[in-house]
Amino acid sequence: MSNELHHAAPGPLKRALVVVYTQTGQLSAIADRLIEPLVEEPGIGLEVVQIRPRVDFPFPWPFFRFLDAFPESALMRPGEIAPLALPADESYDLVILFYQVWFLAPSQPVSAFLLSEEGTRLLRNKPVVTVVACRNMWMMAHDRVRARLAEIGARHLDNVVLTDRAPTLATLLTTPLWLLTGRRKPVPGLPPAGVAEGEIRRSIRFGRALRDALLNDREQGAEPLLSGLGAVQAQPELLVSERAGSRSFHLWGTLLCWAGPPGTWQRLPLLAFYLVFLVTIILTVVPVSLALQAFLRPFLRRRLDAVKASYEQPSGSGLERLAHYDF
Ligand SMILES: Cc1cc2nc3c(=O)[nH]c(=O)nc-3n(C[C@H](O)[C@H](O)[C@H](O)COP(=O)(O)O)c2cc1C
Repeated sequence: MSNELHHAAPGPLKRALVVVYTQTGQLSAIADRLIEPLVEEPGIGLEVVQIRPRVDFPFPWPFFRFLDAFPESALMRPGEIAPLALPADESYDLVILFYQVWFLAPSQPVSAFLLSEEGTRLLRNKPVVTVVACRNMWMMAHDRVRARLAEIGARHLDNVVLTDRAPTLATLLTTPLWLLTGRRKPVPGLPPAGVAEGEIRRSIRFGRALRDALLNDREQGAEPLLSGLGAVQAQPELLVSERAGSRSFHLWGTLLCWAGPPGTWQRLPLLAFYLVFLVTIILTVVPVSLALQAFLRPFLRRRLDAVKASYEQPSGSGLERLAHYDF
């Protein structure tokens, strides 16, 4: 997907900005599919922009480069991005921000956009729809995006989350292998990594609903535009692992930033030590916390339901409008 202007011809009623960054192409495939109904609607002018890091991140990732990206990702101290090159007086009725999660935070290019002057100007006072695609740990990243959007004064109307639906323990193997080898099905017998094809195809339902909402001025209100479409399915039992991981990333990330900038040899021994620590934690804390919660589920039910409802805001997991938009 390249920067392009759809329907710039005289007088679309509404103008929407689509911002996306992708490495494997997964997120732009989702964006392409989701915005189809908006592209086809002459009443809507759509501008699609790609975020471009000044120094590109490699794909597939060399092993230590991947690990070395964690401090700046987790601490949201991203590398610079090129300006989007949109005219300074450009203003949109709706912004759709597609992002992926890197180390429990928005990816560095997306963090850089959210923190940039240009991003702040484009998002301030605007209705914003976020679309996340990741392995399955997105709640901490969502907290940070939500907080930044509030800080900017954007109106966060909707959040859509697409994840890898394979069992967590399988994705803990298949996702890193995909990112390190470029192969989506790295282990015979395990499901392919990433968001399923069918889920990507079905993301067109959100575009249909956004088209109707824009044509009826509903983006000007405070209500979500994508409720009733199964936009989010939070897994509250992952929150314990996400919180523990996030705390550990912050602590170690600060230490690594102190040791040197990305790519310097001084980080290597610390990274190697952290890797051993991290793998041990993943192999112990994640399964133990999942097993413990499964055992305690009857007693934790109310707490887990509250966490689920809170992380599914604002769009919710309801399905009542599927019949109208999912066909
Ligand atoms: C450096 C890095 C860190 C990642 N960390 C997470 C994570 O913490 N949680 C998660 O669910 N997915 C994580 N992922 C997976 C991404 O969110 C995403 O699904 C994958 O990179 C493909 O995205 P893209 O091709 O659209 O860029 C990570 C990926 C990368 C490259």
